[in-house]
Amino acid sequence: MAPQERGAISCRRIVVERFGGVEELREVETTVAAPPPGHTRVKVIAAGVGFTDLMARAGEYLLQRKVPFCPGYELVGEVVDTSGEGMAPGTLVAAALPKMGTYTEYVVLPNWLLVPLPDGLDPHLAAAVPLDYLTALSVLETHGRVARGDTVLIQGASGGVGQALSQLGRRSGLRMYGTASASGSAERLARYGVEYIDYRRQDFETIIREREPHGIQAVFDHIGGANLAKSYRVLAPGGVLVSYAFVGRPGHMISDTVRGAARVKLMNMRPGRRAALCMVPRELKTNRDWYRVSLERLLTLARSGEIEPSIAAIHPLAKASDVHAALERREITGKIVLTAS
Ligand SMILES: NC(=O)c1ccc[n+]([C@@H]2O[C@H](COP(=O)([O-])OP(=O)(O)OC[C@H]3O[C@@H](n4cnc5c(N)ncnc54)[C@H](OP(=O)(O)O)[C@@H]3O)[C@@H](O)[C@H]2O)c1
Repeated sequence: MAPQERGAISCRRIVVERFGGVEELREVETTVAAPPPGHTRVKVIAAGVGFTDLMARAGEYLLQRKVPFCPGYELVGEVVDTSGEGMAPGTLVAAALPKMGTYTEYVVLPNWLLVPLPDGLDPHLAAAVPLDYLTALSVLETHGRVARGDTVLIQGASGGVGQALSQLGRRSGLRMYGTASASGSAERLARYGVEYIDYRRQDFETIIREREPHGIQAVFDHIGGANLAKSYRVLAPGGVLVSYAFVGRPGHMISDTVRGAARVKLMNMRPGRRAALCMVPRELKTNRDWYRVSLERLLTLARSGEIEPSIAAIHPLAKASDVHAALERREITGKIVLTAS
């Protein structure tokens, strides 16, 4: 073994070597070196799968444009060893990564990214918390700045981020409408006190205008396109549209995202209402204190059952391409977690 590989651990990892379909998720054998100063080597127990991973694999994601890369924004794992003031070996930790890389058996991460898991929190459940719930917290608090009693509309309230918004919104005392279409959405949303709008059969703008003639305080949108103007129109004076993703045309997702973001910025220049963009992978890097305090808070809420990620299934890492295929066919409602051990 070469001197620089001393202490290296062999590791199975899912890698995208070129952008494309689910067949581009390849399992490779690699090694993970001992951590440099200020870093910790982590044995991954569970990695959450999000819709963003599918976009990144296809080369359609603004923040992930280079191959090869290992997908996955979030993980729970066990500290193997550390260099510097890290946590003790065996400590269970969670993290959201600024640049993906959690579909793997081992990973080396900077110490500041690792947040200890509260005792008794199931690691697979915890792996579904970081990205979706940090996004929801950022949408609600950093960008939305909503207050108890405010009325809001959550687009895609049945999705990963949508459910996180619904659960945190209920805790914050919001009145909530939510769009969705998946079967069982009405019952699922009702559990969180969200009034269901079936976006395939109903026009959300008409419904909100009828029921809330003075407008509402916030709309949270991950669709873009025509939704942006419609969402802006249902806002009360002083209201806010928070946009956190854009559905683009296949093959044009990045340019459509850039165009959508520019539209949101222009909307924000109009007087009377606000429009804001939320991008958690960037926010967690630029505001480490917010990231650590928020993730700790969310994991504590998950431990006490005050938020409850809905886990649809747990699959081994080797099944990553089957999981992406099922998500692409929209066969799954809820979160999939990949388990590496
Ligand atoms: N900005 C950030 O930092 C950040 C962080 C995480 C995720 N994201 C992005 O946020 C988006 C959602 O992520 P996710 O993981 O929550 O995805 P997800 O679990 O697949 O949920 C998306 C939801 O959108 C709903 N939907 C589809 N078309 C719709 C429409 N026309 N109107 C309203 N709702 C519609 C679907 O509802 P039905 O199935 O009920 O139809 C689905 O539940 C993705 O684009 C992702 O990349 C951004």
